[in-house]
Amino acid sequence: MAHKVGIMGGDGIGPEVIAEGLKVIAAAGVELETVDYDLGGARYLRDGEILSDSTLEEWRGLDAIYVGAVGTPGVPPGVIERGLLLKMRFELDLYINQRPFVSAEDGIDMTVIRENTEGAYAGEGGILRKNTPFEVATQGSVNTRMGVERAIRYAFDLASTTERKHLTLCHKTNVLNFSGDLWQRTFNEVAEEYPNVDTDYNHVDAACIYFVQAPQQYDVIVTDNLFGDILTDLGGAVSGGIGFAASANLNPARTGPSMFEPVHGSAPDIAGQGIANPTAAIISGAMMLRHLGEDDAADRVTAAAYKLGDTQGGTVAIGDAIAAAL
Ligand code: IPM
Ligand code: MN
Repeated sequence: MAHKVGIMGGDGIGPEVIAEGLKVIAAAGVELETVDYDLGGARYLRDGEILSDSTLEEWRGLDAIYVGAVGTPGVPPGVIERGLLLKMRFELDLYINQRPFVSAEDGIDMTVIRENTEGAYAGEGGILRKNTPFEVATQGSVNTRMGVERAIRYAFDLASTTERKHLTLCHKTNVLNFSGDLWQRTFNEVAEEYPNVDTDYNHVDAACIYFVQAPQQYDVIVTDNLFGDILTDLGGAVSGGIGFAASANLNPARTGPSMFEPVHGSAPDIAGQGIANPTAAIISGAMMLRHLGEDDAADRVTAAAYKLGDTQGGTVAIGDAIAAAL
């Protein structure tokens, strides 16, 4: 039976890269029943729609959602990010953001597991006395035992399946003495249940140095929402560029659909020119195939994408080369 997948190309280069992803999935022999959703910055500017409750309800009945990128100049920061992307992550309880970084050439093969529903993204805080000399802005970081533990457990489960069986916790326990304490204690407790997994701890600032100087040392990394956001842009930059950086926003409990999107943004400066690299979207599509139980197709697409993602000739040429290699 065809998998029922919501397609949201979004803005800028989003629709261009998703078209290649769908082409490659079809070439891999997997049948999707797709439903298109015209949402993002451009749609917002057109009629004010961001993400309605009825759309969200429809999404709950899907098997997965495949997203290009959202963001359009002219929309104030935060409107689409919070109203669409983060609302999706929170409402669909996509509590794991899994971001693999692979470069055979440089010997890099690491995966960041980013907690995806809490931390500084939770939206705790506010502004008092706005636009006065006495203005106060607070932005809290929310860390629940449940949220921290399910991210850490997912990371241990993943690390126990890799060749190296190594898991690094990244945080800032030397300064963030409350949230860091909860993360470290939870990590240590869960570690006892996984004696086959080697563990390590890096402060996130030091991890930035290691990501640049010796990313080969990493296998699986688990970290909070904001550290994970920053580390995964860096991970992309050191492992073949952001054009290869894929992500899966997962609801591992499968109480609803998971969402798959490249790490990169909508890149309005190069939209419509046919030069965006679709590889990150294609690898995200492979992660979707794996989540849908199509392991064989996922393996083939992933291998071809990492191998041919550097093909010259632009967006369509790269998609064609990967599709042809299947
Ligand atoms: C990402 C993006 C998002 C994030 C933005 C667009 C809300 O940067 O997926 O990494 O900060 O999580
Ligand atoms: Mn980001």
